Amino acid sequence: TERTYIMVKPDGVERGLVGEIIKRFENKGFQLIALELKTPDQEHLEKHYADLSSKPFFPGLIKYMKSGPVVAMVWKGKGVVKAGRVLLGETNPLASLPGTIRGDFALDVGRNIAHGSDSVENAEKEIALWFPKGVVHHDRVIEKLIYE
Ligand code: GTP
Ligand code: MG
Repeated sequence: TERTYIMVKPDGVERGLVGEIIKRFENKGFQLIALELKTPDQEHLEKHYADLSSKPFFPGLIKYMKSGPVVAMVWKGKGVVKAGRVLLGETNPLASLPGTIRGDFALDVGRNIAHGSDSVENAEKEIALWFPKGVVHHDRVIEKLIYE
């Protein structure tokens, strides 16, 4: 089954939005298969955002991401990569609809609360980077209530 890497960024953790974000993924029916509060170092964050390294906002992005602990998670389920991005909203919170995480809780692109992988391929790379020891394997009892 498809998996994605979701991370509550330091502003989301500091503002007490971890439970709110987890709740939205749980409510939708996705399965949590890894979760850890982490304080990633510069090198780790530069790897995570490697494709943005040439952008002018990159140093500020890394500084923001180092400003406090993050909550690293892996969620599993049908279409979870795309659906995770739908739950998050647009990169720019002001362009995000109410009902999305960024639409409901954020204003600034540089303080947008949470991260979600943008493709299945990148999700697997990010899961390997953040959870090198792997994830939990468990078959939920409720699976047949969520999937046809
Ligand atoms: P992530 O889920 O965090 O990867 O966001 P995204 O996929 O919606 O956007 P992208 O990967 O392009 O950018 C990663 C992060 O860099 C964004 O979530 C923002 O926090 C930040 N960012 C992107 N574009 C800008 C920008 O133009 N200005 C600033 N200050 N930050 C930006
Ligand atoms: Mg991205």
